[in-house]
This record gives sequence, structure tokens and C-alpha cells, in this order.
Amino acid sequence: MAVDKVEALKRYKFSLAFENSNEEDYVTEKFFQSLVAGSIPVVVGAPNIQDFAPSPTSVLHIKELKDAVSVAKTMKYLAENPVAYNESLRWKFEGPSDTFKALVDMAAVHSSCRLCIFLATRIREKEERSPKFMKRPCKCTRGTETVYHVYVRERGRFEMDSIFLRSNDLSLQAFESAVLAKFKSVKHVPVWKEERPQVLRGGDELKLHKVYPVGLTQRQALYSFRFNGDTEFKNYIESHPCARFEAIFV
Ligand SMILES: *[C@@H]1O[C@H](CO)[C@@H](O)[C@H](O)[C@H]1NC(C)=O
Repeated sequence: MAVDKVEALKRYKFSLAFENSNEEDYVTEKFFQSLVAGSIPVVVGAPNIQDFAPSPTSVLHIKELKDAVSVAKTMKYLAENPVAYNESLRWKFEGPSDTFKALVDMAAVHSSCRLCIFLATRIREKEERSPKFMKRPCKCTRGTETVYHVYVRERGRFEMDSIFLRSNDLSLQAFESAVLAKFKSVKHVPVWKEERPQVLRGGDELKLHKVYPVGLTQRQALYSFRFNGDTEFKNYIESHPCARFEAIFV
């Protein structure tokens, strides 16, 4: 008889998620099944496992052999202290972090669709290097003010929406407000809405988690990329005619 692993794990406070390889981003069902079961995963594996955690205290990580003793002590402590144990699983009551939602929601769009979007984006970029496209107006100056035409789409979609930014307020904050206003004005429904469990779906409000230039990998987009302040953002807009961005809502 097949054993339902998640059902079996539910009875345990901890479960060992020891991966076969300690590679960055190599996180398998061993880890996620243990979260689904509601036990605390004790991980040997990806050094960046925290990037995959629903909250900072939700995982015990044995990074190196010498961590084994302290992790064992923590397990013993948590096993004997229900309040502290419950605290580690607080995310189950309060919901996981936005970073976790942003990571998991990536899978709301099937990998073959993501591949298509990636390829179609490449083809479009090539087309846009043709002389006809190069002539399209990406900005317009009147007096001392310039208006920049930029494009934004939600991650997981191909079509882009237009946004106009004014040179007198070319700040990151103004950009993020413009992105939200645009998507709100068209009553945009996030691509993950149907896929998320009911308890995490929220209402109709849109919350912008990240907005980044089209073409970054998801690892860059989620964990390493950020515009270093308004000046860098301004330079980016000025040096990338009709700049294109992708937004992640949570
Ligand atoms: C754990 O904490 C949540 C709230 O954070 C509470 O609703 C629940 O009753 C607690 N469970 C135990 C066993 O203490």
C-alpha cells in the first residue's frame, strides 16, 4: 500500500528534509511536503534555504556538520516548549511572508507557458531593434518637462501596459504609484488569484511586491535586484527608451 507522505508527516513535530545535493536553489518536495504537513523541516541542502522559507523561524537549517548539535538542542527545546514551538509555526496562522508568496506564485503559470513568454519576449525584442520600431517616440519634451513612455506587465503575462512618467517626478515611488494606479484602473486580477488557496487570496486590493526590468532571472528579480535609489532609476529610464518592466503583486 502506498504511504501518503504528507499524512504521515502530520503526526510529527519535525521532519528531516535532507537533500541529495547542497546546491543553491536545489529544494525539492522533501522540504515543501514537510511545510504542507505542518511540521518544521530540518534541512540539509540548499545554502539559500531561507529564501524558500515562509518565515524566518519556520525552518531549522543544518548548514555544516558542526551545526548538528545546536539544531538538535533547538529541536529538543521546541519539542518541550509548546508555546515556543507554536511560535515557530506562526506563519500558519498569520500567513507566509510576501517573499514566500512571490516565490510560490511563480508556479501559478505553468512552466511551458513561462517558456513561451520568455521566447516571445526575445522575439519581440529582436523586432524592436528594427528601424521601424527604433523611430517610435519613447519620450516627448515640452518646455522643461519630458514625459517618458514605459511599459509594464505582470509577471506571467506577455502583454504590456503603457505607463507615462514625468521628468519632474522621476522617482521610484512615483513609478510604483503609477504602476499600481494603472493596474487598479483596469481592475487587474493577479495571475495567481485562481491558484492560491482561498485563505491567502485576500480581497480585491493590489499590493506591489517588486517591479524590475524585463529579462532578469527570477532569482535576480526576487532576491538581488533593486534600483539603488531615485538617481539610478532616473538614469535607467533615460538610457532605456520605452523601458519595459515586470511587476509582481502579492
Ligand atoms: C498557536 O498560536 C495561534 C496564534 O498565533 C493560536 O491561535 C493557537 O491556538 C496556538 N496553538 C497552541 C497549541 O498554542
